[in-house]
Amino acid sequence: MTLPEIDRPRSIARLVESSADLIAALQDAGGAYPASPTFSAYAGYSWFRDGAFIADGMSSYGRTESAERFFDWCARVLESRADEIAAITAAAEDGRPVADGAMLPTRFTFEGRAGLDEWWDFQLDGYGTWLWAVGEHVRRHGTDAARWARAVELSVEYLCSSWRRPCFDWWEEHAMHVHVSTLGCIAAGLREAVALGVLDADHEASAAEAEAEIVELIRTEGVADGHLAKWLGSSAVDASLASVVGLLEVVPAASDTGRATVAAIERDLTFDGGVHRYLDDSFYGGGRWPLLSCMLGVAHARAGDVDRARELLDWAAGTAAPDGAMPEQVGGHLLAPERVDEWVERWGPVAQPLLWSHAMFMRLAVELGVADAPNAGETRE
Ligand code: BGC
Repeated sequence: MTLPEIDRPRSIARLVESSADLIAALQDAGGAYPASPTFSAYAGYSWFRDGAFIADGMSSYGRTESAERFFDWCARVLESRADEIAAITAAAEDGRPVADGAMLPTRFTFEGRAGLDEWWDFQLDGYGTWLWAVGEHVRRHGTDAARWARAVELSVEYLCSSWRRPCFDWWEEHAMHVHVSTLGCIAAGLREAVALGVLDADHEASAAEAEAEIVELIRTEGVADGHLAKWLGSSAVDASLASVVGLLEVVPAASDTGRATVAAIERDLTFDGGVHRYLDDSFYGGGRWPLLSCMLGVAHARAGDVDRARELLDWAAGTAAPDGAMPEQVGGHLLAPERVDEWVERWGPVAQPLLWSHAMFMRLAVELGVADAPNAGETRE
């Protein structure tokens, strides 16, 4: 696919603003962000993972009210499941953990229910990612976190009881492994839960202890050839790891491991400015994901390579359709071209717009100072 030339930098700023407007327009009245309003398999659902990164993008661009409404929605979802979380943590403490199917889902209907469609639901990362996004938001805007205190506490209980469990990864695959990106999201979430200052002493101690153990586990078993590995014991890299060294700052971007991870993603998964998820990907043929270009861009920026970050931002901008909608992935450099048709037959064309793509684009643009965030605390809705 040849990506259209765009008029920079004005069009970057315009695309950032139209992305924020699109996300605001599509956010449900109750606060949930749809992953993609039109894509058959995602319509009607909100993911904690996508939503947390979307809220962070909106927060970084000054759309504070939108981000807070999403956090309120997460808090309601968690509080409504307090009994379930208590049962899960009690069973784990007794040494007879509940089955994967009895763990919390990864996505919910806008009303906060699990929904009736089958899904690869047991994923732990989102319960860390939302905590991380709240922490970033509060640090950025000085918001009082008291209204999310109970939900933060429930998330800490859930994660501290279960973070060691294998589960589906960001891509909703490979449930038999412990994924380093998932661990990174949990560690970042627990770190932020402590930083929020809303936990009692016991919860704070458990969160801090689990975070330290996770960081140590990543260091000792989650590294291969110097870079972060896709899962514990794997030698491959996965582009989601760019978040662990970039936005989530679990491994500093400028550290040896951080630099080696960015280099491995560039070497194995990046073509031009587009980033594949992982080498064996066959979902819609395994194309390149603009949201991953932006994740990688943040990692580059934090390691000091602003020029490369800017190239990645420009590439991501070029994936937008004439109406501004950004896709989940683009073709043109597929890892498994023979696998496209089966997905199109199953679910229709690639998701577009994907709100997470828009949000990551906004987030990198803000990081690079290309899209000035309005004054902290100001709401642009
Ligand atoms: C991706 C997930 C994402 C979901 C909704 C899936 O295809 O693998 O990471 O959360 O779509 O956007």
